[in-house]
Amino acid sequence: MKIELLKLLNFRNYQKLEMKFHPSLNIIYGKNGSGKTNLVEAIYVLGLTRSFRLSQEKTLILDGALSTKVEGVINNRYKTLYTVLLNKEAKKVKINDNKVAKLSDYISKITIVLFHPDDLRFIKDTPSTRRKNLNISISEMNLEYLRVLNTYNKLLKQRNAYLKQMLVNHHETSDYLDILTSKLVDAGMYIYDKRKKFLQQVNSYLNTFYHKITGLDELVINYSCTYEGKNKEEILNLMQKNLSKDLMLGKTSIGIHGDDLAFLLDGKNLKEYGSEGQQKNAIIAYKFSELEIFKEKTGFYPIFILDDLFSELDQEKVLNILKLLKSEIQTFITTTNLDILSFSSIHSYKQIHIEDGHVIGESEKNAK
Ligand SMILES: Nc1ncnc2c1ncn2[C@@H]1O[C@H](COP(=O)(O)OP(=O)(O)OP(=O)(O)O)[C@@H](O)[C@H]1O
Ligand SMILES: [Mg+2]
Repeated sequence: MKIELLKLLNFRNYQKLEMKFHPSLNIIYGKNGSGKTNLVEAIYVLGLTRSFRLSQEKTLILDGALSTKVEGVINNRYKTLYTVLLNKEAKKVKINDNKVAKLSDYISKITIVLFHPDDLRFIKDTPSTRRKNLNISISEMNLEYLRVLNTYNKLLKQRNAYLKQMLVNHHETSDYLDILTSKLVDAGMYIYDKRKKFLQQVNSYLNTFYHKITGLDELVINYSCTYEGKNKEEILNLMQKNLSKDLMLGKTSIGIHGDDLAFLLDGKNLKEYGSEGQQKNAIIAYKFSELEIFKEKTGFYPIFILDDLFSELDQEKVLNILKLLKSEIQTFITTTNLDILSFSSIHSYKQIHIEDGHVIGESEKNAK
């Protein structure tokens, strides 16, 4: 999958932009605050209709403007025009100029794997951040996963509310609770199965990539879930055992809402032991693994965005990462300096020089 053309209107610090991209590698360079991340963010918004940044959605609109438009031509065997329109109240999406009513029908079309420095939160942050990241990875490939996850979360809320009600009414058993619990476990087992399979797939690639980047060590993701190794009956038994505790707390203690994962480097948790650089390399190895899993599942590679990849990495790691890039994967790299081009073996690329929301230079080089 490749983006051939991007058009922006009033997006962040871009008043107007029209840009053609290289099918393999695009290097976006410029000073701090020039608009490099904004440009790759626009590509991300085109695909997912939302940003990867935590800022409020309305900040995507150029200060002082009322709305923004992001438009792009994506080539995935055939060419399609995608449009995202956003004003302060609403968001509209179009495919080939036809309005698409359901966002979920739009989002499933363009696939993007992104690395952003905030992704280190996947290692450093709380279990809930790790689950969120995992959910984003899996649901990009599987919309059913997202549907079942929403069902699970609704049932969990209902069950917790009902537990509180039971405590007030001094009830210790209830047929209704049993029904909720059974449905909750059905949805939870589906999520568990998809998470486990996905992480098994990641693990089948992860260490190879990590090794190619760093030259050493053994990296593996360890997934933990209270359902591990149990069938439905055993899970229901466990929930029954925890019922009095659940009633006291008004909360469900067993289930996939408590899942967690850990990146283990030579058996040690990177969250506690890893350096910034090690954590970054681990996440990058994870992103490379994701690309391969996408390809296995869909037959094509997603668009790959690497924002601010190079900070904190030594030159050797940077070179190793650049060597891993495949020409069939359209890749976007943002950087404040172009030195990488002189010391790496990259031959075909487009370089795009950004200053203050404008493209002030672009040039293309293609190896014979
Ligand atoms: N809605 C907006 N309207 C106008 N300008 C904006 C808006 N949102 C962000 N900006 C501006 O965009 C600039 C930041 O752009 P961006 O994050 O893309 O920089 P960058 O080139 O990635 O920098 P760095 O090298 O530091 O990562 C800032 O100057 C910011 O003020
Ligand atoms: Mg940036």
